[in-house]
Amino acid sequence: MGSNHPHLGSTRSEYVLGTNPAELARLGLQHRLWSDSAHTLWRRAGVQPGSHVLDLGCGPGFATADLLQIVASEAPGAPRGSVVAVDESQPYLDHVRSLSNDRGLVPAITIRADLNQTGSLAPLRGRDLDAAYARWVFCFVSNPQAVAEGVRDALRPGGRLVVQDYFDYEAMTVAPRYESFTKAVIATGKSWRLRGGDPDIMGRLPMMLERYGFRVTHLEAHQRLARPHEPMWHWPQTFWYNFLPVLVQLGLLTEADREQWLRDWAELSRTPGAFAKLPPLFDLIAEKE
Ligand SMILES: C[S@@+](CC[C@H](N)C(=O)[O-])C[C@H]1O[C@@H](n2cnc3c(N)ncnc32)[C@H](O)[C@@H]1O
Repeated sequence: MGSNHPHLGSTRSEYVLGTNPAELARLGLQHRLWSDSAHTLWRRAGVQPGSHVLDLGCGPGFATADLLQIVASEAPGAPRGSVVAVDESQPYLDHVRSLSNDRGLVPAITIRADLNQTGSLAPLRGRDLDAAYARWVFCFVSNPQAVAEGVRDALRPGGRLVVQDYFDYEAMTVAPRYESFTKAVIATGKSWRLRGGDPDIMGRLPMMLERYGFRVTHLEAHQRLARPHEPMWHWPQTFWYNFLPVLVQLGLLTEADREQWLRDWAELSRTPGAFAKLPPLFDLIAEKE
């Protein structure tokens, strides 16, 4: 079905943040700001040279490229690892390929699939993968149980599902508080839920995985702050700059709300001592039994 919304890409079912060039650039910045925690988590989950890994909802492939670098084995004769990259967006999958070319890496195996469709991960069944990584993906899918089952069937026994995602997303705020910011956070949560997503997904995922053949071995939260002069300030800023027009288009904010938000953010950015309390990001590792 076609969409008449320029920010939502070509299909109505496409995920709510869209796949336009500004969003692609934002995902690159976001990866740089969060890559330390991703690498720490991958190490903890045993991702290493020779590993076979799935990058689920890989986006433009910034994490995929790092994973390709890790699994490629330097040792002569040692088995080479691989990365399978799955996303519903063809432009993003094209970017995954060009990124690995630019870095001189053996490319990922790319698969275009809509995780909201039943059986979307069936082509991966029985692949005996060592690990699957899903960052900021479960919060957008309408049937996380089906995705968990698909991942379980793609992993070897003892293989790990590694997730970074949100719980209590709407706890994001700024100090001093601004009504315009609170409104925008609430509208964002609504927009994800309207598409079948859940900004509280990490509150449900550990229990769900324990029911679907996994044992949760690691769970941790990152509560980060951002101050106006820090690189992390650009994370919320780029998100809101990109997403506020979408919220207006969806009828969840008015144009006046958006303009007020921009004025308040500019003021906040100039206020000595102001800070943003970012949405808590959770790390999870679950082992297939
Ligand atoms: C916020 S981005 C995260 C990308 C990447 N995991 C990262 O951490 O940079 C969410 C990604 O999930 C993908 N996605 C959302 N819903 C999907 C679905 N139903 N099927 C497949 N991919 C989906 C989007 O296309 C997008 O690339």
